[in-house]
Amino acid sequence: MLRLEDVSVRFGGLIALSGISFSIQKGEILGLVGPNGAGKTTLFNCISGLVRARGRISFEEREITALPLHKRARAGIGRTFQIPQPMHHLTVRENLTVAQVFGAGRSDPARIAEILDVMELSGKADADAASALALQELKRLEIAKALATEPKLLLLDEVLAGLESQAKRAFMLKLRELHKLFGLTIVIVEHDIETISNLCSRAVVLNFGQLIADGTPEAVFRDPQVMKSYTGAADA
Ligand SMILES: Nc1ncnc2c1ncn2[C@@H]1O[C@H](COP(=O)(O)OP(=O)(O)OP(=O)(O)O)[C@@H](O)[C@H]1O
Ligand SMILES: [Mg+2]
Repeated sequence: MLRLEDVSVRFGGLIALSGISFSIQKGEILGLVGPNGAGKTTLFNCISGLVRARGRISFEEREITALPLHKRARAGIGRTFQIPQPMHHLTVRENLTVAQVFGAGRSDPARIAEILDVMELSGKADADAASALALQELKRLEIAKALATEPKLLLLDEVLAGLESQAKRAFMLKLRELHKLFGLTIVIVEHDIETISNLCSRAVVLNFGQLIADGTPEAVFRDPQVMKSYTGAADA
């Protein structure tokens, strides 16, 4: 569904991504892992069109490397941001409507109602996004906004971070439900090894902008190079 070929990004002298190549199959739930600063968010930015990469990115057999952000959204690439950024002066429902018009080019109130329902935000739908929402609800809104763009491929950047273990488990079940309900392909950035192992059939590991492992979570987290990058980050 998505293919990256030799994708590289530089910020001045810093090489944020270096020669990344891998493919994502339709229907997968792929974990994207690696220590802080490894390039995970930058990779999402390249796929969604916020950052221009060298190399080649194709989505559903079509090259999108130079396609602007909104056209990638229309093609079916949706994402969340590491720091939720709703439009605070709008209500929850209005936030979703704006996202839908941006990503899907239409306004479909029934679909928005369905998303509000599945993300358990119906009760807050017409409340102001900034003042009315707690952290968990902001996270749910961030995902709801991405769903409102009607994606085929959903990129989730640390949506589980900062949740306690019980909330995390509930959120994971929700992600599985969304995967099934909307027929999604999902890539999720997450640091917690247990979460990745439970949720994902495959994990790709970045370290200092390079892809250092790609396989089942079980195999990847047994790889000494991967564990070294993890413990190195924990010591830092
Ligand atoms: N817009 C930018 N301008 C300059 N440097 C950037 C920019 N965005 C990211 N970087 C740098 O690129 C590297 C990769 O950053 P990135 O945010 O992709 O890492 P990450 O894997 O998402 O880390 P984290 O787990 O902390 O979210 C870092 O060194 C970061 O400082
Ligand atoms: Mg990041």
